[in-house]
Order: sequence, then C-alpha cells, then structure tokens
Amino acid sequence: MSESSTIVVSTEGRVGRIQLNRPKALNALNQQLMEEVVSAAVTFDSDPGVGAILLLGSDKAFAAGADIKEMAQQDYPEMYAADWFRRWEDLAQLRTPIVAAVKGYALGGGCELAMMADVIVAGESATFGQPEINLGVIPGMGGSQRLTRSVGKAKAMDMVLTGRHIGADEAERIGLVSRVVPDDQATSTAEEVAELIATKSKPAAQMAKEAVAASFETTLQQGLRLERRLFHSLFALADQAEGMSAFAEKRGPEWRHR
Ligand code: CAA
Repeated sequence: MSESSTIVVSTEGRVGRIQLNRPKALNALNQQLMEEVVSAAVTFDSDPGVGAILLLGSDKAFAAGADIKEMAQQDYPEMYAADWFRRWEDLAQLRTPIVAAVKGYALGGGCELAMMADVIVAGESATFGQPEINLGVIPGMGGSQRLTRSVGKAKAMDMVLTGRHIGADEAERIGLVSRVVPDDQATSTAEEVAELIATKSKPAAQMAKEAVAASFETTLQQGLRLERRLFHSLFALADQAEGMSAFAEKRGPEWRHR
C-alpha cells in the first residue's frame, strides 16, 4: 500500500482501490486530489493485473464537491488557461470498469465524480446534489450532461436549478445509482461488485463498458453498429470459445484474457 496526501491507493487481488482521503475538508476535490486520483486510475488502467477499479470516500462524505476555497482564488483567465476540471475527463475515458461506493455527501463535483463510475453502490446515508447554483456558478465536471443523460431532463433541471439534495432512495428510483444498501455494507458490496467484474474476461468487460458508454454519446444507429462490431470482434478471442464451451459442458469458464 502506498499513501499520498489526498488519496490512499492499494491493490487487492485484481481490484485497484482508490480512497479519497481529505476527511477534514469532506474530501473536497482540489487540484492535487484530482491529479492524484486520475494518475492512480490511469496506472491501474494500464496494469494487466487489474480488472476493476474501486473508488471510495469516507463515511461522512464521498466528496462534498470541488474545493470551493481553492476555486475562490481563481479568476477567469486562470480557469480558462488551466482548462479547470478537464483532467477529470481522463478518468471518465478509462477502459477499466469503475465501481464507486458512496456514503454521505456526494455534492457538486462529488456527484459528478460518482457519475464517472460505471456502477454506483450507495449507502442509505448517501446524499446527492448539484448545489453549484447556490455559489453563483453551474456544474463544471459533467453535472449538466451526465446527470441529464442518467436521470432525464425533469430531474436534472430540478436538481441543477434548485440545488436541492436527494437521498439514496430517490437516487435509486431515478436511476442515478445502481444499488442502495445499508451504510455498513456499502464498501463491502462495492468490493464484491468490483471483484466479480474483475473475474470476467477482461476484453469482454472493457468492450461491454465501451458499448454502454457509447450510448451516451452517439445516435442509436451508430451505437447499435458499434455494439455489433464489438460483439463480432470478441469472436477473435479465445474467451468467446471458452465461455460458450464452458456453458455447453456445464462448468465454469477459465478465461485466457484477464
Ligand atoms: N470545498 C472546500 N471545503 C469544503 C467543501 C468544499 N466543497 N465542502 C466542505 N468543506 C469544508 C468546510 O469548509 C469545513 O472546513 P472547516 O472545518 O475548515 O470550516 C469542512 O469541510 C467541514 O464542512 P462543514 O463544517 O460545512 O460540514 P457540515 O456537516 O456542516 O456541512 C455540507 C456539510 C452540507 C456538505 C457543507 O460542507 C457544504 O455545503 N459543502 C459545500 C457543498 C457544495 O457546494 N459543493 C459544490 C462545490 S462547487 C463544485 O463542485 C463545482 C463543480 O461542478 C465541480
């Protein structure tokens, strides 16, 4: 296990684990944390021994948003020159599936970071929101785009324009999170999900992620064509033959590509 000032990084089996670690600031996402999270995730993404990435916060906060105190120091030329928040897109573009466990606050950039994960397991205490309007700004890490694509215009407008927080149950009802579990099971459930994904054929899992992610960005026809091409391409790998043989032989598959 290695430790840096804003995150704790470790690998358990085939799961790469990144825990946000600024508890006094409710894991507010400052520039250093952004760089450390994205760098760690990029390293996991290129590690053949890692099949899934687990993203964790703390009990009180997954993350309470971008660091307001840091942003308050910036002016427009600095924000524009740095293309503030762009680096987060490198996380969103990774091929390795990402599972997030969310307990407590996931506000602003915290909600947007959770939405960059592929599976969100929420504890019952999880609170989601896009409160940027209350700071005189708007979401800047994807809230207006990913939230709208996830939950639709009615709920996204409600959250983005009023800044209201929603609880875990509402988040599950509107399709923002994958599962809700008691708080004390959120981390272990997310671990189980990540471990399960990491047992799959790695290229199949990556292409499954790519295909679902493409539905956020393409027309239906383009997305369907991409899905078919990816489906066809999996027949070039030993895992397709193994998976189908294992089914016929009533045994578990032994993946070659992991
Ligand atoms: N940035 C910087 N510091 C933050 C922070 C943030 N987003 N959120 C909390 N903190 C700090 C507080 O300033 C406080 O620090 P001090 O002890 O030094 O005063 C510490 O974390 C604990 O916070 P509170 O005392 O406020 O805790 P609370 O339990 O009373 O309230 C909260 C919790 C409701 C989450 C409240 O902290 C809050 O409203 N935070 C800001 C939420 C927010 O507006 N997020 C959006 C940020 S903008 C953004 O994210 C833009 C984008 O799209 C990327």
